[in-house]
Amino acid sequence: IPRIALVAALHEELASVLALMPDEHKETVGGRDFWVGHLHGQEVVAALCGIGKVAAATTATLLIQYFGVDRIVFTGVAGGLGPGVNVGDVVVARSLLQHDYDVSPIFPRYVIPGHGVSEFPSDAQLSDRLAGACETVLGALPDHVDLASIAKFGLHKPKLHQGLVISGDRFVCTTPESEKLIRELPSALAVEMEGAAFAQVCKDFNLPLALVRTISDRADDEAHVDFPSFLKEVASKYSGAIIQTLFSD
Ligand code: ADE
Repeated sequence: IPRIALVAALHEELASVLALMPDEHKETVGGRDFWVGHLHGQEVVAALCGIGKVAAATTATLLIQYFGVDRIVFTGVAGGLGPGVNVGDVVVARSLLQHDYDVSPIFPRYVIPGHGVSEFPSDAQLSDRLAGACETVLGALPDHVDLASIAKFGLHKPKLHQGLVISGDRFVCTTPESEKLIRELPSALAVEMEGAAFAQVCKDFNLPLALVRTISDRADDEAHVDFPSFLKEVASKYSGAIIQTLFSD
């Protein structure tokens, strides 16, 4: 029987997933919390990862080596970078890159020595299923997010985007910094702080990974304002709805 890990960086992002698990019990390993139980009859380990690439790498390793999961689904929020990747849209990663990784001039910028690549692909099949779940949820958003929040954040025609997600140990919250990322990595759709670290560990252990991020801000000068209220009112609901849909397929 497959054992699936469901991971988020923040408690707000994981709470709606935990609410779907009737029988979960908490285990604390390596200073972080894991909940072992079931979702729609499938064995699940939910994990509260914490913020950043080190937290991500530790959590991924524990999920694989200690909890014995055989696939990982990451959910959370990200800053939008790509044109038309707006607040309330959803991004499913098809590849992931660490934007703060730099061993140049010994290796080309972003390339991880030992792997010889800068981008790690997500699992195609698991990502297809996740993208399908996202389309279903976005198509029926008022079933999941209350109308006042939909109006407040202008979530009228939220879109699904698929492609490159970039990660680094920075909350990107100035317009010059987001413009620099867009210039240097023009195919990047969204920026967050954990995904590419998960992708590297999953590659090392040959484990399928899929990642979905709801866009909470545009990683610009307004990012710090948009982020907290969006997390509380919207992102928490998206995660639960997407995961529930993924498991009921
Ligand atoms: N997660 C959500 N918004 C983000 C941003 N602007 N930068 C990094 N991680 C994020």
